[in-house]
Amino acid sequence: MSSSVSVANEGGVAIVTIDNPPVNALSFHVREPLMQALAALRDDASVAAIVIACAGRTFVAGADITEFGKPMQHPELRAIVAVLEAIAKPTVAAIQGTALGGGLELALGCHFRVADQGARLGLPEVKLGILPGGGGTVRLPRLVGAAKALKMIVSGTPIGADEAYGAGLVDAVFEGDLTTHVVNFVREMARKGGPFTPVRDRDDVIKETDLAAFDAEVADLARKARGLEAPVACAQAVRNAVTLPFDEALAEERALFVKLVASDQSRAQRHLFFAEREAAKLPGKDVVKRRIARVGVIGAGTMGGGIAMAFANGGFPVTLLETSQEALRRGLATIEKNYTVSVARGSLSEDAKRQRLAQFKGTVDHADLADCDLIVEAAFEDMAVKKEIFGKLDAVARPGAILATNTSYLDIDEIAASTSRPQDVLGLHFFSPANVMKLLEIVRAEKTAPDALATVVDLARRIGKVAVVVGVCHGFVGNRMLAARGSESEALLLEGATPSQIDKAFTDFGWPMGPFQMGDLAGLDIGWRNRKARGLTAVIADTLCEQGRFGQKTGRGFYLYENGSRMPVPDPEVEALIRGKAAEKGIVPRTIGADEIIERTLYPLINEGAKILEEGIAARASDIDVVWVNGYGFPVGKGGPMFWAGLEGAARIVGRLRYWHERTGKNVFKPAPLLERMAETGSWQV
Ligand code: CAA
Repeated sequence: MSSSVSVANEGGVAIVTIDNPPVNALSFHVREPLMQALAALRDDASVAAIVIACAGRTFVAGADITEFGKPMQHPELRAIVAVLEAIAKPTVAAIQGTALGGGLELALGCHFRVADQGARLGLPEVKLGILPGGGGTVRLPRLVGAAKALKMIVSGTPIGADEAYGAGLVDAVFEGDLTTHVVNFVREMARKGGPFTPVRDRDDVIKETDLAAFDAEVADLARKARGLEAPVACAQAVRNAVTLPFDEALAEERALFVKLVASDQSRAQRHLFFAEREAAKLPGKDVVKRRIARVGVIGAGTMGGGIAMAFANGGFPVTLLETSQEALRRGLATIEKNYTVSVARGSLSEDAKRQRLAQFKGTVDHADLADCDLIVEAAFEDMAVKKEIFGKLDAVARPGAILATNTSYLDIDEIAASTSRPQDVLGLHFFSPANVMKLLEIVRAEKTAPDALATVVDLARRIGKVAVVVGVCHGFVGNRMLAARGSESEALLLEGATPSQIDKAFTDFGWPMGPFQMGDLAGLDIGWRNRKARGLTAVIADTLCEQGRFGQKTGRGFYLYENGSRMPVPDPEVEALIRGKAAEKGIVPRTIGADEIIERTLYPLINEGAKILEEGIAARASDIDVVWVNGYGFPVGKGGPMFWAGLEGAARIVGRLRYWHERTGKNVFKPAPLLERMAETGSWQV
């Protein structure tokens, strides 16, 4: 046997062990010996039962994603599952860690699945823009029913062992030494002598499907898919499992898989899978990380409270500092309210809520931060305020404590210089709501020590964030590019587009919402204050703010929000205001198409990304994609702005930017040299 697959015989029970670190993916060098092992064991009279197990921390976590897009080397997973499923002796999958994608499909080829208490099982292929291509869409519904299978396959979210047991996906759940339990389990099954019905022949559950209810669910899913093909194909495949004979449904699944795996959407989503993992890698592996046991957070407002919750949710005790007892009480009350909402929604137990709340210690005294290993400042966005706080922290924090600021724009080198320990200072730019949003921009200042940086990158992963390391500049990666995207919004309005036309062009592109809806949601006053501080103006947005139209929170912004609703309704008053301002400037309105809207907003965004790469503010183009997908809702099916630039054609983007630059003279349209090079070489390499 190869080193990737080994077989041991324990008194007539063959244990096939897959050993392909780190996640036991089903690479070619696993599939080939696995197929041989199964065929041999099928014909071996000394073997009464077969266990499929894995070495290391996890069961098979899926197909080997690095093999996608390359010529398939046989045997394919489907062929292995077919051989496995035809074996008459009892077969069982011993699942620990995660059984995902092709891993779960392999397990579905067994008569039985036995899981460790901590195991998680799922078919996450949809997140890679594909569907389970190894029979998962046809076999899973036969165990858990079409409705549950639809939910699991379309969401891609794995379920825990107990839930899997309740749903009929696993046959037993054990704690402790899984191999011993599984061998005993399968011996007992062999002793009982069957019947050992392959999953493909179990039709009882799917026969009960309420097809009308199923189709209603699918119609809803298709609406929510926002142009993504994979969720729709997943739903179609599960429906086929119910309506077509097994082999036909399997063939249809294959056809859908082949189509999806070759699509730009799937390429984009696979790009993002690896991009997220790449972003967390720092040069210099041997850096010893600092120990983080307690976290301090300064400011219990929306941002500070969210940040404190993010750490508490990750298991860290948090000291929360405010300027007054009243502000502290309010902040802690909001945190408690947020957890209560989670309990009401069923995503948190009462017990877990109590445990989370017990993690918080409130204070109004800086000296109480002395035992914190990381302190995150989330106070008012003002340099003088930040400097004063960091001066105080310098006096009280223990030596080696990491001092972080959550600033969205300010110069962190300047903040660091207000302490005697700039090597310990960095930026942790969370996105609101900080306990929910995945993205964390980690800002490396000029003097930040490598071990401080490595510590927070690791910490980000521990609290479930997707981290991207960026350099110091106004707005870092995300907000700097957002400014470039927004720079033409006003001009488009004045030239004749309405807020809802612009927002629709964005949602048609795949964004969850357009720039004006987003502005209304975030609060228009934030940008207004920011502009005033920098001596900038935006004629429409400024006028709206002067009228007290701050967005959703005031019931009026670019749109109307009636009776506390979050649904934006176009407002004729705003449209009249825009036309009035345009007339003052002598602009005659014209019809503006969606293509122009995308060109004038997203091409400058990409151009700014190129400048960010040239300046070394981001290390990789894929880091920028990770920022935009996880922090700003850039459509996953387009892979992030820099990946999409490749799909769209950098040469086209450069051409159109030149056109707009000539027409308007605006700097945002002046193609960055790196973008011009990308148009020639196809690479973002600086
Ligand atoms: N193929 C190839 N490489 C994989 C992989 C896969 N399926 N899954 C993980 N890896 C790699 C990662 O890229 C990473 O590599 P580096 O260390 O070089 O960056 C390494 O394994 C460890 O992965 P993580 O950092 O993600 O480790 P984790 O412990 O945080 O998470 C995991 C483990 C939950 C398994 C996570 O890696 C994961 O979700 N993997 C993908 C699972 C998946 O999507 N499976 C379906 C594959 S498609 C399929 O199976 C199609 C089909 O129908 C046949």
